[in-house]
Amino acid sequence: MKGLILSGGKGTRLRPITHTSAKQLVPVANKPVLFYGIEAMAAAGIGQIGIIIAPETGAEIRAAVGDGSQFGVTVTYVEQDRPGGLAHASLTAERYLDGDPFVMYLGDNLLQGGITGLVDSFRANRPDALILLTPVDDPQNYGVAELDGDRVMRLVEKPPAPATNLALVGVYMFTAEIHAAARAIEPSARGELEITDAIQYLVDDGKRVEPHIVRGWWKDTGRLDDMLEANRLVLDRIESQIDGELIDSQCDGRVILERGAVLERTTVRGPAIIGAGARICDAYIGPYTAIGEGCEITAAEIEHSILLECSKVQNLEGRMESSLLGRNVTIARGVRQPRAYRFMVGDNSEIGIL
Ligand code: TTP
Repeated sequence: MKGLILSGGKGTRLRPITHTSAKQLVPVANKPVLFYGIEAMAAAGIGQIGIIIAPETGAEIRAAVGDGSQFGVTVTYVEQDRPGGLAHASLTAERYLDGDPFVMYLGDNLLQGGITGLVDSFRANRPDALILLTPVDDPQNYGVAELDGDRVMRLVEKPPAPATNLALVGVYMFTAEIHAAARAIEPSARGELEITDAIQYLVDDGKRVEPHIVRGWWKDTGRLDDMLEANRLVLDRIESQIDGELIDSQCDGRVILERGAVLERTTVRGPAIIGAGARICDAYIGPYTAIGEGCEITAAEIEHSILLECSKVQNLEGRMESSLLGRNVTIARGVRQPRAYRFMVGDNSEIGIL
């Protein structure tokens, strides 16, 4: 069995971060979201993983993941020439997959509890496809499944009046049958070959598609709020580890302070993680915050936020919360009069002044 991780796509919902960087590399608790999927596959005994990359962000993903040896797996990159949809991505990898059954994992998804149990049940039952489902409060925003016992009967993409609350999770198990299905379907209204249509084709063709209801949480990190929520869920499970230095400072609750990080006259209230080499002075870092490597924070309060590497936050009057800062961002209050807001902000940015 092989693995296929989809790490191409457009990432429009996470602009402007995705103007310069792949969304799959945005860190959750200071680790790229993509790494969680690779680790889940490695833990399930899947040693050969294909990663779908886009021309624009492929180099960055290659640089971060390398040949896979850091995870104990062998990674092969498969470039998808355009974001043609999830079924298009699986077709792009047909040669790499070479007729083997495979786990397909969306590179911006996080699944608590991993995939080991699912892989075992797929190997034992040998269905043509196995899909993961989870009950949600707003099924109209997801692909929704209708079941008959342990068979999937119908999949509907974002139905206005959903028949069930079972949403499709971004992890699937397929046999090579899915390639023929992906070739047989037509692009959807948004111009993509949809995986829901390909799976429906299998169902209509009399193939056995089994559902598996996921216990534990699942997160698609494609939007800011989901990314912050994923960060919260992962930080909720960390254990304290203080490898940095505290000067007149304190860490309450579970905090990871990485090597070379320095806190001065600062309180960190966990769960939180402070990356290597970060310097934080006269500040308060609140729960569910992940501060990236080399960040500098002075005279500021930050809570429920993600800061990527080398960003700076200085002299804020109010508390910054529920925010995502990219790399090398500076947010600082000036001292000169007249006092005013001064911005240099890229396309599709969002600044909330509360
Ligand atoms: P999506 O989040 O559904 O799509 P997207 O990345 O284009 O994002 P947006 O809707 O914000 O524009 O994709 C899920 C995952 O699959 C994500 O990791 C990107 C990846 N993907 C591909 O690799 N190839 C594709 O053709 C598509 C559509 C997505």
